[in-house]
Amino acid sequence: MRIWAIANQKGGVGKTTTTLALGRGLAALGQRVLLIDLDPHASLTRAFGVPLDPPPQGVLELFATPPGEIATLARDSAIPGLDYLCAQAALATLERRSANQPGLGLALQHALAQHGQRHDYILLDCAPTLGLLMINALAAADRLIIPTQAEPLALHGLEGMVRTGQMVERSRGRPLPVSILPTLFDRRTRTGNETLKQMQDRHGERVWEDAIPIDTRISTPATLTAPAHDDAYPGRGLSAYRRALEWLRAEDAAQLERAA
Ligand SMILES: Nc1ncnc2c1ncn2[C@@H]1O[C@H](COP(=O)(O)OP(=O)(O)OP(=O)(O)O)[C@@H](O)[C@H]1O
Ligand SMILES: [Mg+2]
Repeated sequence: MRIWAIANQKGGVGKTTTTLALGRGLAALGQRVLLIDLDPHASLTRAFGVPLDPPPQGVLELFATPPGEIATLARDSAIPGLDYLCAQAALATLERRSANQPGLGLALQHALAQHGQRHDYILLDCAPTLGLLMINALAAADRLIIPTQAEPLALHGLEGMVRTGQMVERSRGRPLPVSILPTLFDRRTRTGNETLKQMQDRHGERVWEDAIPIDTRISTPATLTAPAHDDAYPGRGLSAYRRALEWLRAEDAAQLERAA
């Protein structure tokens, strides 16, 4: 089982889109995939068409006493091999609870350990907030994937996220490799190209050499959860995500080899 956290403290950089597109790509390769929505705004949950009122069961139950089990809380999607765990708005209240309930930072890691090998990949869609849920994701992850919009303002968010990853890595004493995925890229603009170059100069091989282009075919998250989406003609956005997926899997394989 590989656990990937998809996170960036900056909003609107393509985290949820990346989670859905990579999850879809992995399922198409025959992998058993679970997407976990760790954002109280529940964009990923909504993309699967789940009504939020009344709130669905999901991530909040993993923080209950006794904690719920992922296997009973996860739902099947319409895409074979792709399951998901819903977020609820009440997840936002966890921060307050964590003050008097130590140990909540590892709740997700424990739930995933209990879950065992039922899924080959677990993808964690984080909210753009450095809080308890993101700490849970980073504590549990084998890899931190940072989608970053190729525009100057986004570079600050990237630096912040890399530092957060390093902090978690130090405190848990286990490597947390970082992969940076340039997103929402417009090849025609000079700013886009310059920012991409800056990202590559600063972070070297941790940055994917290519970029996910802006593509209207993936501009509504719900299109990524529809089984009818024509995988034979995926369009520029999904094709780029497939190439990104190959790179990420190669990075994982290289990391596992180095660790062996
Ligand atoms: N490659 C793309 N081409 C076109 N639209 C895209 C692309 N990637 C993302 N979008 C759109 O941009 C918006 C932001 O993307 P998304 O919701 O994935 O970002 P996010 O980082 O998860 O945001 P938040 O921080 O709010 O959770 C969405 O409307 C999404 O559909
Ligand atoms: Mg999101």
